[in-house]
Amino acid sequence: MKNRRVSKFTRRSVISSSAAAAIGAIIPNLWMPNANASSDMEVTLHAAPGQSKFNFDSAEPTTFWRFNGSVPGPEIRVRQGTRLRIIVENGLAEETTVHWHGVRTPNAMDGVPHLTQKPISPDSQFVYDFRAIDAGTYWYHPHQRSFEQVGRGLYGPLIIEEANPIRVDRDVTWMLDDWRLNQSGGIEEDFGNSHDMSHSGRIGNFVTLNGKKPDAFSVRKGERIRLRLINAANARIFGLDFQGHDPLIIALDGQPVTPHSPENNLVVLGPAMRIDLILDMSGNVGDDNGVIDRFYDGLTYQLTNIKYSDVIVRNDRPNWPVQLPDNPLKEPDLKTAKRHEVIFSGGMMGNMVARDMGINVTSPRSMMGMMHSKKIWFINGVAAEGHIMDPMLNLDLNRSHVIAMTNASAWYHPIHLHGHSFRVISRNGEKTKHQEWQDTVLMAPRETVEIAFVADNPGDWMFHCHILEHQASGMMGVIRVA
Ligand code: C2O
Ligand code: CU
Repeated sequence: MKNRRVSKFTRRSVISSSAAAAIGAIIPNLWMPNANASSDMEVTLHAAPGQSKFNFDSAEPTTFWRFNGSVPGPEIRVRQGTRLRIIVENGLAEETTVHWHGVRTPNAMDGVPHLTQKPISPDSQFVYDFRAIDAGTYWYHPHQRSFEQVGRGLYGPLIIEEANPIRVDRDVTWMLDDWRLNQSGGIEEDFGNSHDMSHSGRIGNFVTLNGKKPDAFSVRKGERIRLRLINAANARIFGLDFQGHDPLIIALDGQPVTPHSPENNLVVLGPAMRIDLILDMSGNVGDDNGVIDRFYDGLTYQLTNIKYSDVIVRNDRPNWPVQLPDNPLKEPDLKTAKRHEVIFSGGMMGNMVARDMGINVTSPRSMMGMMHSKKIWFINGVAAEGHIMDPMLNLDLNRSHVIAMTNASAWYHPIHLHGHSFRVISRNGEKTKHQEWQDTVLMAPRETVEIAFVADNPGDWMFHCHILEHQASGMMGVIRVA
């Protein structure tokens, strides 16, 4: 991958910790043991500001916006088929909603302000009610002013277990985030500034794993771990190198994929994406290996390290099956699929790239004008404003569709469609090896990607870049399925 450019803010050094507290980063979990397919589960999520400390020395208490007093919010963990009733109480001073990222809910439960529901005003609540039809790794976050609400800590994991999960010794969630902090540990208040919007988004200077500066990850020789990675960052893309280990990718965005090793041994996770790994602890007692993030040129750092205790679980690799059972997704028929073209453009250096690619994007204003109006990004020539929008595409219900997307810009974009999972069928004109199901596909600068799916979930669905600053400055549209 080339052109891994970031905005100037990234170049600030990561705040160092002389003595990272020995806190195991554990997410409180709301799991009903013995949950079965016919059970219901009720959860209350209370969104409110609150103070706590990051686990590094100089930190003053930081003001977060949190669900149930923690960052991440509680891990909601249920068995596939469970009916979830989630009561969201708004203790913020502004409106909010909650979106269940990647979960195929009925439209009215999708949590998009104005489009699928009235926003939840301060001191009110909304009850989300849907069935967990697909197993996998998902997450929840507000969809109102996401660039600030998610950026201040409102998010949490949503894990839907298979009826018969594959066998592992441990099932572990790593929810990654990236913060822009000042020297005293406070969150920089410059949310939604034009520089972030027109470049790589709000890249921070402090990366956390389950809300903490990562401590060593302690493992035992021979154990098999299912590691669920979730990228909750506004903008940072991770490219993780698990030194000394060979991770196997078994699911992308919750959906099973043919188990395979990551390309170039790098586990790449754009904002909002999830990857489930099988990680066999094939090292030896006493080993200590880095987990290195190599995504951005010149900004390599160690995320955490894998440290072997003196316990031995087994000496050989287990030969247990790793293939996950399919979810009930309809197979798109490529022969009869209707084709739609989507071009993403805008951002810094966007006109140059589009010109190079021979794409005629009419950018109505100068860059300064775009930045001033916060209309910086365009989908098929339109920069979205607010949340009520005419559909940019109309898809016939229950029919197969191919969306051919072109990134005519100089920046990466993780493109997310609500209400559906889609197969990524080609990149730059070449068929993808795994035809993977995703709900968020990372597009490199100048890349073309084709996705295919059956539009089987009726309603108006958001389609947007998940770099939240890009979303807030126009890179968002509505797809109507009817
Ligand atoms: Cu994770 Cu429209 O969002
Ligand atoms: Cu983007």
